[in-house]
Parts: sequence; C-alpha cells; structure tokens
Amino acid sequence: MRREGRMTQAQRRALTVLWQHFGVETQAPLDPIILFGRYAPLVLEIGFGDGESLAAMASADPAVNYLGLEVHRPGIGHLLLRAETLALTNLRVMCADAVEVLERQVPDDCLDRVQIFFPDPWPKARHHKRRLIQPPFIALLVQKLKAEGQLHIATDCEDYAHSMLNLLNATPALINQAVGKGFAPRPTYRPPTRFEQRGWRLGHRSWDLLFTRHDRIEEP
Ligand SMILES: C[S@@+](CC[C@H](N)C(=O)[O-])C[C@H]1O[C@@H](n2cnc3c(N)ncnc32)[C@H](O)[C@@H]1O
Repeated sequence: MRREGRMTQAQRRALTVLWQHFGVETQAPLDPIILFGRYAPLVLEIGFGDGESLAAMASADPAVNYLGLEVHRPGIGHLLLRAETLALTNLRVMCADAVEVLERQVPDDCLDRVQIFFPDPWPKARHHKRRLIQPPFIALLVQKLKAEGQLHIATDCEDYAHSMLNLLNATPALINQAVGKGFAPRPTYRPPTRFEQRGWRLGHRSWDLLFTRHDRIEEP
C-alpha cells in the first residue's frame, strides 16, 4: 500500500463533488458505451499520477474516450480538477488496482490503446518482482486489446526499459512498431508527464515502447 500523501482542500472537494461526474464506482463488468454514453475508440491509461498528461491528451482528442486508472487519491483529485477546467466529456476515472480492473471488469478485445507512462521502476534488484510489466500482466493486456490495438509504455529506468523491450519482443501476439524492434521515438501525442519531467531535472532520459496486437492470435 502506498501512503496517501498530502491532499489539498481543492483535491478533497474534487473527490466528492467532481467524482460524481467523472468517477466510476462499479465493480461489475464495464460497458464502454454505457460508461461514456457513446461509441468511440477507447484508450485506457494505467497509473496516470497527477493526470496532467492524461487530461491534455483527452482534451486534444475529443473523438476518443479515455479511461484512467490510479490508486493515489491526491493524483485523482488533481486530474478531476483539470477535467473540470477543461470541461472534458470524454474522460472517466477509476480509483482501483489495474490488475483487478483488467481481470474482472474490462471485456476482452475492447481497448484501442493501453498506455502506461512511467510505471513504478522499483530499481533495486530485490524489488524487480514488484514491477507491473511482467509476463502474466502482458498476457492480460494482450487479451484486452483489440486486434491492431496499441500498447504504449514509457520509462526513464534504463534497466526496466530493456527488460520490457525483451519481454514484449518475445510476445508472439505483439508487433514492435519501432525500427529494428527497438525503442520508439516519443510520439507527438504523448505530452511529457510530471514524473518524466522530474527525471529530466535529475538528468534522466526516457524510453518509449510502442507495440500493436496482431489482428489474429494463433491458438496454442
Ligand atoms: C511512477 S508513477 C508515474 C505517474 C504518471 N504516469 C507520471 O508519469 O507522472 C506510477 C503511478 O502508477 C500508479 N500505480 C502503480 N501501480 C498501480 C496499479 N496496480 N493500478 C493503478 N495504478 C497504479 C501509482 O500510484 C503511481 O501514481
């Protein structure tokens, strides 16, 4: 469990008042058309942090539905305030663990893109087992992506970047979109995130990984 950290008065208000507008409480399977009141491509962001980059993407892309998952409540409050300011109608937010939501609530073959920007790096070797991007989780993501749906991950942890690249390149259901099956240039649609900018101030660089799901997955 992560400690909650400080929450501003405005974030606290957002979590009650704005939550009613953007928040998703159900633990039942999700129906994207009911969730957003329309059919549109669906992007799932896992671990959006303070949500600044997610809000900017949703604002720049009103024809696409965005669903954000985060467990850190002050960050959720921050995103809700941005969503109100930008008057977003294409954003829904869940305060929930991504593994549980994917396993229990997201239908198979339904996501046009999954984006995971700067997942917790757990840099110490003895903590690597806590990393989110591991083979069972990759298999779960593949199951939830549409055919030709996109998986976009970014990190500033070099060792994690290479471990993810190897795992994803070795996943038969995924195709690396980058030249030579390497890292991709940062797509222009991805704004720098808060965590990433903090890393830049410490001299870090970022690696983007961009994959698509095959249109047909061979049965084993
Ligand atoms: C290093 S931070 C990056 C935040 C943001 N994407 C950014 O780049 O600024 C990783 C985030 O993932 C969230 N997170 C970690 N595990 C999660 C999980 N299982 N489900 C949902 N969110 C998770 C954490 O709460 C944290 O906010």
